[in-house]
Amino acid sequence: MPQLNINGRSHDVNVEPDTPLLWVIREQVGLTGTKYGCGVAQCGACSVHLNGEVVRSCALQVSAIKAGDRITTIEGLSKDSSHPVQKAWAAIDVPQCGYCQSGQIMAAAALLAKKSKPTDKDIDEAMSNICRCGTYHRIRAAVHIAAGNTKVGSADALTSDQQNA
Ligand code: FES
Ligand code: FES
Repeated sequence: MPQLNINGRSHDVNVEPDTPLLWVIREQVGLTGTKYGCGVAQCGACSVHLNGEVVRSCALQVSAIKAGDRITTIEGLSKDSSHPVQKAWAAIDVPQCGYCQSGQIMAAAALLAKKSKPTDKDIDEAMSNICRCGTYHRIRAAVHIAAGNTKVGSADALTSDQQNA
């Protein structure tokens, strides 16, 4: 029976070793902010952090997780949605349907933890998550706001075309 540290709490989970972490998070632990999209490590809807690195939990078997590894889900990113990425997302209303957004936020938070002032190229390379609603312009703008590269409402933050994207 693996023991997993998720958002700072220890959970004994009773699953087969090849169970994807995503299903443990959602079904065993009951944290449903992490989403199932493609199931084959392509879309990023299931992104969580493993020891601070973004990983696609649909493709990570629990047997690959070691004792002492730290898993963070969107619910554990902050207690009150006060992480700079969450605040930037809210400030410019990034989500449309919202389905992909917890994965996007986890990817952005991992990027900023490594690179506090990312360029557009850094963001495009790090953020390979798919958004079927096409919120990519707002995602990029929000990452810049979270990084302090631009301010909410500044001309650089979003063009009018981007606001409508
Ligand atoms: S559900 Fe995991 S990458 Fe799509
Ligand atoms: S906001 Fe709808 S899929 Fe991204």
